[in-house]
Amino acid sequence: MAKPRSLYVCNECGAESAQYFGKCPFCASWNSLIEQVIAPTAANSAKIGVGAAARATKRTKTSDRNEPHPLAALTLPEISDHAQARLSSGYGELDRVLGGGIVPGSLVLIGGDPGIGKSTLLLQVANQLASHYRVLYVCAEESGQQVKLRAQRLGIRGQRLAGGESAAKHLASQSLTPSTLYLLPEIDLETILAELEALRPPVAVIDSIQALYFASLNSAPGSVSQVRECTSALMQLAKREHITLFIVGHVTKEGAIAGPKVLEHMVDTVLYFEGDRYASHRLLRSVKNRFGATNELGVFQMVDQGLEQVQNPSELFLGSRDEENPGTATIVACEGTRPLVVELQALVSPTSYPSPRRTATGIEYNRLLQILAVLEKRVGIPLSKLDAYVASSGGLNVAEPAADLGVAIAVAASFRDRVVDSGVVLIGEVGLGGQVRPVSQMELRLKEAAKLGFKRAIVPASQANYPGVGLEVIPVGRVVDAIAIALVSTKKNE
Ligand SMILES: Nc1ncnc2c1ncn2[C@@H]1O[C@H](COP(=O)(O)OP(=O)(O)OP(=O)(O)O)[C@@H](O)[C@H]1O
Ligand SMILES: [Mg+2]
Ligand SMILES: [Zn+2]
Repeated sequence: MAKPRSLYVCNECGAESAQYFGKCPFCASWNSLIEQVIAPTAANSAKIGVGAAARATKRTKTSDRNEPHPLAALTLPEISDHAQARLSSGYGELDRVLGGGIVPGSLVLIGGDPGIGKSTLLLQVANQLASHYRVLYVCAEESGQQVKLRAQRLGIRGQRLAGGESAAKHLASQSLTPSTLYLLPEIDLETILAELEALRPPVAVIDSIQALYFASLNSAPGSVSQVRECTSALMQLAKREHITLFIVGHVTKEGAIAGPKVLEHMVDTVLYFEGDRYASHRLLRSVKNRFGATNELGVFQMVDQGLEQVQNPSELFLGSRDEENPGTATIVACEGTRPLVVELQALVSPTSYPSPRRTATGIEYNRLLQILAVLEKRVGIPLSKLDAYVASSGGLNVAEPAADLGVAIAVAASFRDRVVDSGVVLIGEVGLGGQVRPVSQMELRLKEAAKLGFKRAIVPASQANYPGVGLEVIPVGRVVDAIAIALVSTKKNE
């Protein structure tokens, strides 16, 4: 048996080298190389990536000159096309983000900050799916009792097996219950693989990939090599047995899924579950999807009984509107194909600092600076001695140019202490010359605003022609004109 050898793996990019470097030679990040001792046991070399090598040897043997190698490559018509219908997760918001439901046999990675509700979401989804399918939930981070506690809070009771048999007995009797939720508190990869093979669930959840442990690798759970090997082993099994896998992945402080980028490359779909911990809404976003469009958005709300779908997010983000408040403007942001009506608030007040403060919550800081400069230079609002604070309601991230006009109007309204006409939405990008520029998906935005009862929309001059959207479309060429139209002439307390 070969000696154990050391390998250095970069935590950032996953590159391997036989030698230690302070700076990764591949991605140039510092102190990212982690030592990993590989003990080449038989089981180990059989499992890890030797498949290809073995196949290659086999090919050399058969590719004897006299004995032609039988072709394994297929033409498209040779591949069976019994397209499996997508499964519904029971949550329309999740199905939307996945591109119209769960693709059988796909690998879905769900990342998110600690405590954001990943386990809650997946337990609820697993429970929904378990009314039609066998589902295995691997809780590698929590004990069975902890998961049961959560389940009780969420009102999930689970199914009792017929005759009160234990799961093992049930299996032995060869009559797998078609629809049940099974829990497996386990971190050992091999045990999990064996269980998956025995149970053959159409859907399984791994919570989380960073907690799994592959004993043949002498590195700690959560290290790059562990995460990579565990994912790859799970992927091979899932593809072979047509198991749909939901994998929870932790997020680093930079906001990427912990472990190298290779993890995101391996899976079919990458979703991020995010939201402000102090606000109740949670957003599910797809950043990669082999089976659907990305940038789709699912909206949930965390309540005492767990996560609830939010069918009409605009109502959530519009919140309780304070129509009498100077400095409030309403915009229509777009997340993927999903329009969201969001309220922006601005406050400008004399500064007590040598240089004024600017704060942006939910909108892009640099865009705010740019809009303030445009207001100063092109509209003549002197802001250089004023602090400016701009926030979106609920802290929702609306970092897109279409929000510019709303930001400009909100700031102008706060400066002039006027209210913005409460029946008006503002849609448009602001150029450096003070002009209002066109934005994408205008019709979608206008319809959403009309649906919520807005009467007028101030839009870029070139995007005036939308008859039949259900509200009055007012085209403007310049920010100055928009300010003149949007601000109600009477002051708040007059
Ligand atoms: N008793 C409760 N009542 C209401 N909400 C609760 C309660 N217990 C937990 N929560 C909510 O559930 C969240 C935790 O959810 P969950 O454990 O699913 O998160 P997670 O993303 O899996 O976290 P981790 O990264 O630690 O695994 C809490 O942040 C809180 O918002
Ligand atoms: Mg969790
Ligand atoms: Zn690197």
